[in-house]
Amino acid sequence: MNLTVIDHPLARHYLTVLRDEDTRPEEFRAAARGLTFSLVHEATKRLPLAEIEIQTPMETTTGYRVHDVVAVAVLRAGLGMLDAVLDMIPGCKVGFAGVQRDEETALPQEYYFRLPNLSDASVFILEPMLATGGSLSWAVDKVKSSGARHITALCVVTAPDGIRRMYDDHPDVHVIAAAYDRELNDRAYIMPGLGDMGDRLFGTF
Ligand code: URA
Repeated sequence: MNLTVIDHPLARHYLTVLRDEDTRPEEFRAAARGLTFSLVHEATKRLPLAEIEIQTPMETTTGYRVHDVVAVAVLRAGLGMLDAVLDMIPGCKVGFAGVQRDEETALPQEYYFRLPNLSDASVFILEPMLATGGSLSWAVDKVKSSGARHITALCVVTAPDGIRRMYDDHPDVHVIAAAYDRELNDRAYIMPGLGDMGDRLFGTF
């Protein structure tokens, strides 16, 4: 498994806004969007392009077009990254992976799953908090069993347990993140982290 932790001043700025407990949900959503632009920029560096011939006002020339990209938002926190992905890749198709964490066991429980046709698509799984890795590993299993082969996970914060889990379960998946944090606490929250991403996005405290 390949982990890339992006190192860009804007990503650091937005990550700090996300980490700050005084950040209100509306600011939090804007910062999640701002940070996701940097993650998408990194994730699309090696995206395959279709070569096309176009006509400029002057003459014909060769152009390039992005095609077959699918974003899969892991509900509900992944929704905080989706708008930025769609802004940058408007033709992107979208799937949803509904999974919630059992607060007793910290294991993923599926409650909704819907995907567009994946065939040869480049798949970006939006899973902001890679804590134990259970939800992301589950989501990757599901998209693989639907035929996906080129999978990248976009995360805001990762932790050693989650990275280890992905390394064991899905060594072929590239993880792109804004941070690799110290550890999980006894409730499987990332430390220092940013708290519960879904609650902070949607104000459900
Ligand atoms: N999910 C979150 O939203 N935050 C964490 O720290 C871990 C999992």
